[in-house]
Amino acid sequence: MSVREITRPTRRQVLAGGVALAGGAALGGLPGIARAAVSGNGRTVEAGAARVGLLGANWPETDVWAFDGRVPGHVLRVRRGEEVDVTLSNALAEDTTIHWHGLRLPNAMDGVPHVTQAPVAPGETFRYRFAAQDAGTFWYHPHSRSYEQVARGLFGALVVEEETPPAVDRDLLWVLADFRMTREGAIAEDFENRHDLTHAGRLGNTVTINGQVPDRVPVRAGERVRLRLVNAAVARGFTLGFGSLAPAVIALDGQPVPVHAAPDGRVVLTPGQRADLILDIPAEPGSVVEVVDGHYRGQDYRLVSLAAGPDAPLRTHVADVPALAPNPLLAEPDFERAETYVLEMGGGMMSGMSSAIVDGQDMGLREMVMRHGLAWAINGIAMTHDYLAQPLMTLGLGRSYVLDFRNDTAFEHPMHLHGHHVRVLRVNGEKVPHAPWRDTVNVPPRGRAEVAFVADNPGDWMLHCHVLAHQHGGMMGLVRVG
Ligand code: C2O
Ligand code: CU
Repeated sequence: MSVREITRPTRRQVLAGGVALAGGAALGGLPGIARAAVSGNGRTVEAGAARVGLLGANWPETDVWAFDGRVPGHVLRVRRGEEVDVTLSNALAEDTTIHWHGLRLPNAMDGVPHVTQAPVAPGETFRYRFAAQDAGTFWYHPHSRSYEQVARGLFGALVVEEETPPAVDRDLLWVLADFRMTREGAIAEDFENRHDLTHAGRLGNTVTINGQVPDRVPVRAGERVRLRLVNAAVARGFTLGFGSLAPAVIALDGQPVPVHAAPDGRVVLTPGQRADLILDIPAEPGSVVEVVDGHYRGQDYRLVSLAAGPDAPLRTHVADVPALAPNPLLAEPDFERAETYVLEMGGGMMSGMSSAIVDGQDMGLREMVMRHGLAWAINGIAMTHDYLAQPLMTLGLGRSYVLDFRNDTAFEHPMHLHGHHVRVLRVNGEKVPHAPWRDTVNVPPRGRAEVAFVADNPGDWMLHCHVLAHQHGGMMGLVRVG
C-alpha cells in the first residue's frame, strides 16, 4: 500500500496538516492520560500482541503490539539511585529487546540485539538490572526491528524522580506518538514503504498522547504544571506552541538545563527527544490554552487544549520557576584536548549521494534502495545489521570528543548516541544557548550540529538516526569506547 492510498478515518476531524484528531471526551478522567505509574524496580514487562482503543469509543479496537497490553506501556518510575529491575518477557512471535533510551547504564543492559545482548526469542525472558544514576524523563522501546515494533505500539516512559523534585501542583506526562491508520482503523502494515525510507520516514496520520487521540486536558486555573514530553513517534517531529503561556524549560532529554523560556515560546521535539516544562496555567477559571504543533511548514494543527475548570484559581501570583540542580555526574568535556570526528550524513531523495559502501562494497543508490532497503549513509557507509560490529569510530575511555554532524540531505536527522549525553555546542554554526546535554540531537536538513562529550562509558554503543526508517535504511553505526 502506498502512502497516498492510506486515508485517515473519514469520520474524524481532519486538520490542515493531514493529521486527524477526533473530538473526543475530556482526557483527565480516562485511564490513558492520568495513567498510574508502576515501580520500575522488580517487575515483569511483557511484549505481546494486544487490542487497544487508540481511536476512542466510536471506533473498534486496534490490533497493536504492546508492553503489558497497553500503548504506551506502564510508566515505570524509580527514584534516582534506585535500581531499575525489569524482566522482559517476550510474548511476540519474533525476537525483541528493550532499549532504555537516554539512560547511562552498563553496556550489557543497553538492549541492542547482537551488539550488547542476544535477542530475546519468543517465549524467552531477559532481566535488565542497572542503577538509575540520572534523574529525568526517559523512555523505553525495543531495538529489534524497531521501525516496525515501535510503530506497532511498543514504547513506554520511564521517569527517574529527583530527590527533591520542584514544587508543582501537577506532574503531567505526555508520550507523543504518531500512528499510520487505515480507514478501517487498523495500523497500516507498510513498514518497508520505499517512499518513507527515502524521504522523511513513516509519518502517520493519527497523533496520540498517551495512546489516545487527545482533545482537552482538564487543569485548574492558576496551578503550576510540570509537563514531561516524550516524542516516541517513529518519524514525526513536534514543534509545540502554547499560545499565551510562556513555557519554561527545565530539562532536555532528561538532563537539567538552566531555567529558560522556550525560544519563541515553541518547544521542539524530534523523534526520541524529551523536554520537561513548567507551565503556569492562567489564573482565570474556564480559560483554554490551545497547544498547537507547527513542526511542518503550512501544516499547523491543534494538538490538544488545556482547559481550566470553573474552580477558583489555585493562586493568582506566579512564583519564580524553580531550577533543577545541574547533574554533577556528567563529565565536562576538555575542549582543549578534544578530538573531532566529522560525520557526513548522506542519502535519500534530493541529495548528492549516488552510491555508498554496503557490506564492504560500493553500491549505487538505486540498487541500495530496490534490492537492500537502504538509502542512507554516515561517512559513505550504509550500515547493515550484518556489518554493525565494525565500529564507525573507536574512542579512548575518558577522553573528550567533538562530533561534527554534517547533514548533506534534504531531511532532518535526530541523531541518538547510546550510553552517553553530549553537550550541543552549535547548530548551523550558531552557539546553542546553555549548550544543553542531550542524548538525541537534531541535525537540520543541509545543516550541521556540533556536540562534545567525554567517552566515559565503556562498550559498543549505537549511534543512529531516530527516524527509525532511516536507521533501518543505513543511518547507523557503532561507537566503540575503551
Ligand atoms: Cu531510542 Cu537506539 O534508540
Ligand atoms: Cu534520519
